[in-house]
Amino acid sequence: MAERWSPDSWRSKPVKQMPAYADADKLAAVTQRLSSYPPLVFAGEARRLKSALADVATGNGFLLQGGDCAESFAEFHPNNIRDTFRVLLQMAVVLTFGSATPVVKLGRMAGQFAKPRSSDTEVLDGVELPSYRGDIVNGYDFEPEARRPDPERMMQAYNQSAATLNLLRAFAQGGYSDLHKVHQWTLGFVDRSPAGERYRGLADRIDETLAFMAACGITAQTTPQIRETDFFTSHEALLLPYEQALTRIDSTTGDWYDVSAHMLWIGDRTRQPDHAHVEFLRGVKNPLGLKVGPTTDPDELIRLIDVLNPANEAGRLTLIARMGHEKVESLLPPLIRKVKAEGRVVVWSCDPMHGNTVKSASGYKTRPFERILAEVRGFFAVHRGEGTHAGGVHFELTGQDVTECTGGAQAITDQALCSRYHTHCDPRLNASQALELAFLIAERLKEERTALDRARRSAAAE
Ligand code: PEP
Ligand code: CO
Repeated sequence: MAERWSPDSWRSKPVKQMPAYADADKLAAVTQRLSSYPPLVFAGEARRLKSALADVATGNGFLLQGGDCAESFAEFHPNNIRDTFRVLLQMAVVLTFGSATPVVKLGRMAGQFAKPRSSDTEVLDGVELPSYRGDIVNGYDFEPEARRPDPERMMQAYNQSAATLNLLRAFAQGGYSDLHKVHQWTLGFVDRSPAGERYRGLADRIDETLAFMAACGITAQTTPQIRETDFFTSHEALLLPYEQALTRIDSTTGDWYDVSAHMLWIGDRTRQPDHAHVEFLRGVKNPLGLKVGPTTDPDELIRLIDVLNPANEAGRLTLIARMGHEKVESLLPPLIRKVKAEGRVVVWSCDPMHGNTVKSASGYKTRPFERILAEVRGFFAVHRGEGTHAGGVHFELTGQDVTECTGGAQAITDQALCSRYHTHCDPRLNASQALELAFLIAERLKEERTALDRARRSAAAE
């Protein structure tokens, strides 16, 4: 029998990555205020996402999760939200049309503020200050005042999340996502890239298909799916006082939900089964993600699955593997085999970003596009070998024309990184790199489907 859970039961467990707030009274006052604020998402929406993910887990769908590494207060602007949203839309269209698979769209947006760090402090020219932990905790500038964790920042993060979510809902349901606008989602700089050209070709075919469907009587009026889409939000549930303040009982089911986002995930640094982050998330009914890095042991993974998804519900748990391009083909198969042998139902997703971060010769943290591609390819190859479904991808990306990851068809060089390097944390794919990846994934998904169909047909013929 599991121990009793409550929204604050995590407080009696060891906790990693927690900022040291100097003023406990101020922290309590802020979280008290937050706990009386309206939910950002509804429990029913989280259940709808869970049900879509249950389809993915059973092989009928694909999860596309992406957005900023860290949202920031300074870059809060409707154009940034729109541009990230439309890159995800474009990728989703490429995946859906290219592979004939339903795509679940999930943003790392509207709440992705808190960051885990490898060290509690940072030293620069002999000065030691607390590390930057994301705008919800402290400031980016290397100054004592900025780096002091300030609980009041949670209010700004909440307000920014609410406004972001409001705009995302409008984009998803207010006409912007209408498939008839598929040509208009292209950003200027992407249009000129090879992926942009390929996208235009695909958009032309979608136009033809829509015209054909309209002639058959299937239009945006008869079929809402043509004019609107489901778009969900997610972030790493790292800053537990904030998450606790936004955890409420859903009046229709009596269950607890963390209403700060539809899906919450546990990072690779905070996934200890007996620690605070796992304790907190096991008690909320939202669909959950769990980052699975190279140090994950198969038995420990099963232990974590047992804690986070004791009833083995499809759609509850997404395992986000982030092994690195060199290790994915050796480290992932034993985990997949173990999960399969134990009969656990999960979505397997691939984060090809966090295992492939390097320091460039020019001193920038970057991710070579070739390595990102290699990890995605490796992920699909492993699933093909194991006969399991490559269920999704998890990217750090932006709609801005940044130069943060090297390579891709635009061939961003080491030297070019400095020209538009804007991230507050990890390097992100720009829109044309993201689109290039979407085309590759669509091809792999189509191959997976063909292989499965062939296997089914030959089984039926026997
Ligand atoms: C992240 O997703 O930004 C992150 C910190 O990932 P991980 O926990 O996998 O290192
Ligand atoms: Co990151």
